Amino acid sequence: MAFPSPEREQWSSRLGFVLAAAGSAVGLGNIWRFPFKAGDNGGGAFVLIYLACLLLLCVPYLFAELALGRNGKRNPVGAIRAVRGRSPWSLVGGLCVATGLAILSYYAVVAGWAVGYVFRDLATAEASDVAFARFTADPLWVVPLFGGFLFATVGVVARGVRQGIERWAKILMPMLFVLLCLVTFRAVTLPGAGAGLAFYLTPDFSEVSGLMVVEALGQAFFSLSLGVGTMVTYGSYLPDDENLVVAGGYVAVFDTLIALMAGLMIFPAVFAMGQDPAEGPSLVFVVLADVFGAMPLGSFVGTLFFLLLAIAAFTSSIPLLEVFVSYLVDETTWSRRTAALSAGGVAFVLGLPSALSQGAVPALSDLSWLVGNQILGPSPGVLDLVDFLWGSVALVLGAVLLSVFVGWVWGADEALEEVRPGNGHAMGRWAGPLWRAAIRYAFPVTILAVLVVDLLYDVL
Ligand code: PHE
Repeated sequence: MAFPSPEREQWSSRLGFVLAAAGSAVGLGNIWRFPFKAGDNGGGAFVLIYLACLLLLCVPYLFAELALGRNGKRNPVGAIRAVRGRSPWSLVGGLCVATGLAILSYYAVVAGWAVGYVFRDLATAEASDVAFARFTADPLWVVPLFGGFLFATVGVVARGVRQGIERWAKILMPMLFVLLCLVTFRAVTLPGAGAGLAFYLTPDFSEVSGLMVVEALGQAFFSLSLGVGTMVTYGSYLPDDENLVVAGGYVAVFDTLIALMAGLMIFPAVFAMGQDPAEGPSLVFVVLADVFGAMPLGSFVGTLFFLLLAIAAFTSSIPLLEVFVSYLVDETTWSRRTAALSAGGVAFVLGLPSALSQGAVPALSDLSWLVGNQILGPSPGVLDLVDFLWGSVALVLGAVLLSVFVGWVWGADEALEEVRPGNGHAMGRWAGPLWRAAIRYAFPVTILAVLVVDLLYDVL
């Protein structure tokens, strides 16, 4: 049975937690994936459905992760054991820890590209897709950037919750916000930006479809960093008197605000420069590189944009590493420093195939012989496969299992005691039963449906 160790660190304040957790939530997912998905799915209509998914499913589930963590004062495996003792449910915690590390392994590769692009001159004669392909295929660039990025993440996590994670969140999140405001201002003041704004903000309900709901839900879910145990771990550092509804609510509001702003930044720029909004994480580096290359003050704004992307990715990599580190610190006798270095080393080894899969090693670049071309698009590489298996499937599976654990095994009523504002004060007559219903039924059933529809759509 795990008991909270007396020396376990806590966030120094609500603001510290909110910034760190919002840093986790705001990442590559918000800055490219959200605006693209919104643009491709009817603009405003998608945004409205995304907001509904967030409010009705993801936010209630966020409270469940935070409550589980704070109740056990432990990493995901320890938090589950604190409720149930040694049981097969611990494996769910193990799945979360593994998913975090696996996502980090390729997330840091993409983050390394963003760092590399901070230093590139975007106004070159070379076509940006060619430049991007050449850059990502060069192991002498990609591997050191990836390794350096991971090493910096290790450096923050090794310093601990207050001195490392919280301190850097307090420095980087305001920077991120200022950069976002600057780039958004430049984008919406470009001649021709109005078309992009109209495209993004006018809801087109004729585009609403079942699959779009699936996309919106998946996005809400990845964006809030759910299903990976990061919110369980961050919840475990919350003091007992913290109000989970208020603290978690702030995180959701920040994450949504920044995703919405990212749309305001990207669409006007893409449309003003006569580009098409296109799909996929690599296209940030292609379409937007063209946009910046062609616009007045473009090199400078481009540098700011990629700096913003690198910071957002950095504050999301920290919690991904922290989940495994907190597991090692809680469950072994290792020091935090040793744990952080080892976890970073494992992530580096795991991520090397992804880093080398963009052309450096041809055998890693095209796995279509293994997985075909249907699920992951034409010529999927290791990075695409790892992203799909861990970033889509394992993450969603982890969330369903955790919600079943909280709703049924721990018990929604017990969990509610932990969630209730001020620990035990009434939450309002309707909010408690509503939360129970969301966590026991609505969340697992909807997410499972999403997984099935998604897989069927991809395979058929
Ligand atoms: N939420 C992050 C993003 O939007 C990704 C992430 C997922 C981070 C899971 C941590 C855990 O990019």
